[in-house]
Amino acid sequence: MSAPVITLDGPSASGKGTVAAMVALRLGFHYLDSGSLYRLAALYAVRHQIPLDNEAKLAMAAVRLPIAFRDGRVWLEDIDVTDEIRSEDIGLCASRIGALPALRSALLQRQRDFRHPPGLVTDGRDMGSVVFPDATLKVFLTASADERGRRRYKQLIGKGASANLQQIQQDIADRDERDAARPVAPLRQEPDARLLDTTRLTIDAAVDQVIEWYRAIAPRA
Ligand code: DC
Repeated sequence: MSAPVITLDGPSASGKGTVAAMVALRLGFHYLDSGSLYRLAALYAVRHQIPLDNEAKLAMAAVRLPIAFRDGRVWLEDIDVTDEIRSEDIGLCASRIGALPALRSALLQRQRDFRHPPGLVTDGRDMGSVVFPDATLKVFLTASADERGRRRYKQLIGKGASANLQQIQQDIADRDERDAARPVAPLRQEPDARLLDTTRLTIDAAVDQVIEWYRAIAPRA
């Protein structure tokens, strides 16, 4: 039997990455931030000047993307790009190439390769619908667009960056629209996913809720 999988899908800045990483830690499971693969593919394209609409070339590059995950850091072509892939610019590029079906197919197996015992927690847009349709627990994690904008704003200010709240809220709304409107693997709550709205929840409360749902399905976890 394959290792159990918990998927957390949802829009940008919903807190799904933080919640997924903490659930993985508490359960002793592996963790995959699938967005980082799209961000790495986007950064690779920018570095190698591959146009973001050259689907065939991007897909070819994605199959062989020279990446490594070590000690909580992310490497592309042996360069530590952990911080670089987090920029809003690379997020937007990732969202653009994420609309290309061949690029998505190229990343499919790479994502499935993260499934190992004792289990995997993963977050993204289509983890429950496309990548792991047989997941043990599927969660759609969201928060109001205003709240997500405020969270991203605080995060940037906390890092010492300058930020404009209205601009961030607009960028988030644009990215949501593109991720939800694309014909392949659009961002949406699937019928078999449980809704977790974190607008008024702390991170700890969201983590507790996911673990409670999971333990109700897999009591020995
Ligand atoms: O989760 P994130 O913000 O790091 O993702 C960046 C972009 O990558 C997101 O706007 C769309 C794309 N993405 C995707 O299409 N499918 C996923 N499973 C994860 C991310």
